Amino acid sequence: AHREREAALAAERDRLARVLDRMVEGVLVVGADGRVARTNPALERLLPLAAGPGATPGEATGRHEVQLAAARAAAGETVEGERLAAGGRTLLLTAAPAAGGAVLVFHDVTELQHALEVRRDFVANASHELKTPVAAILAAAETLAGGALEDRAAAARFTATIERHARRLARLVEELLALSRLEAGAAPERRPVAAAAVVAEVCALMEAPFREAGLTLRCEVAEGLPPWRGDRRSLETILTNLLDNARAYTPEGGEVAVRLEAADGGLRLRVRDTGIGIAPEHQGRIFERFYRVDPARSRAAGGTGLGLALVKHLAESLGGRVAVESAVGAGSTFTVELPGGPEAAP
Ligand SMILES: Nc1ncnc2c1ncn2[C@@H]1O[C@H](COP(=O)(O)OP(=O)(O)OP(=O)(O)O)[C@@H](O)[C@H]1O
Ligand SMILES: [Mg+2]
Repeated sequence: AHREREAALAAERDRLARVLDRMVEGVLVVGADGRVARTNPALERLLPLAAGPGATPGEATGRHEVQLAAARAAAGETVEGERLAAGGRTLLLTAAPAAGGAVLVFHDVTELQHALEVRRDFVANASHELKTPVAAILAAAETLAGGALEDRAAAARFTATIERHARRLARLVEELLALSRLEAGAAPERRPVAAAAVVAEVCALMEAPFREAGLTLRCEVAEGLPPWRGDRRSLETILTNLLDNARAYTPEGGEVAVRLEAADGGLRLRVRDTGIGIAPEHQGRIFERFYRVDPARSRAAGGTGLGLALVKHLAESLGGRVAVESAVGAGSTFTVELPGGPEAAP
């Protein structure tokens, strides 16, 4: 019976050791004597160890925060969420009392931290973009209330200002909502869509704005397109945003060409302009939210830098992707690949 119990204990120890070996988190076990009893391989990847078992936790890791956390845990306290910077990474240290000693667990939270920073930047940017039109609307309303209402010409000007900024605000909120819906993972429903008709409609709507900007817009749809299962609204939004950009960033006299064609059982939508172009160092970033090559110019054009982020998200939510080719001064080509839908998949 004694033997059996010993064998069972050994098996249990083996199992524990295997678990520790495979853990993603770094683990450091401190015995009742205050010395390191064992460590796991993950810990050595996260925090190069200066000494092995037998050393104090501080000596082993070279970090006095670790020594402190171990001492507090050994005294019966649970230490949670201590942050450690190590070799460009951020570790979260948790220490708990265990059998007179302590167990210390190290989580690598570098990616999480980065995601939080992106989110914080996003909130700051969004708030800033929302503040600008709100301030303009308030100022115009106050001026009207302060007497400008009596002056018909001034009144017309200020109400036009209010309208313009309110529209901008509405669009911004719309884009932010669309982005957050997409980020929540809401995949658009897939229905049969007459993609050629959608492209023709958007092009028809854009004709007037292009004419007013002194630009030529040409839309071409290839023959024999495969049936497409996708989302009509998404396709509209993608093309509208690409055309908005082509119009905003192409000087008068320029040309913009849209082409819809078949590609790998799905669709390829291409928008080519003869505009100002995008330098290579910006090409990778224009799909980020709020990123603008020239913020002053984009703001003057009414842009906030959300359009391409939306295009990218929409294309990806439909299983596709978007790419840009561009040369400064020569123009840009945006290509969106959209797979045919679940039925079309091999
Ligand atoms: N066709 C293009 N030619 C040149 N630059 C472009 C073109 N399309 C986009 N860009 C650059 O990429 C940036 C990001 O485009 P995006 O559509 O995301 O934002 P925006 O047009 O500034 O604002 P929004 O679309 O939210 O109104 C633009 O500010 C512009 O600098
Ligand atoms: Mg845009």
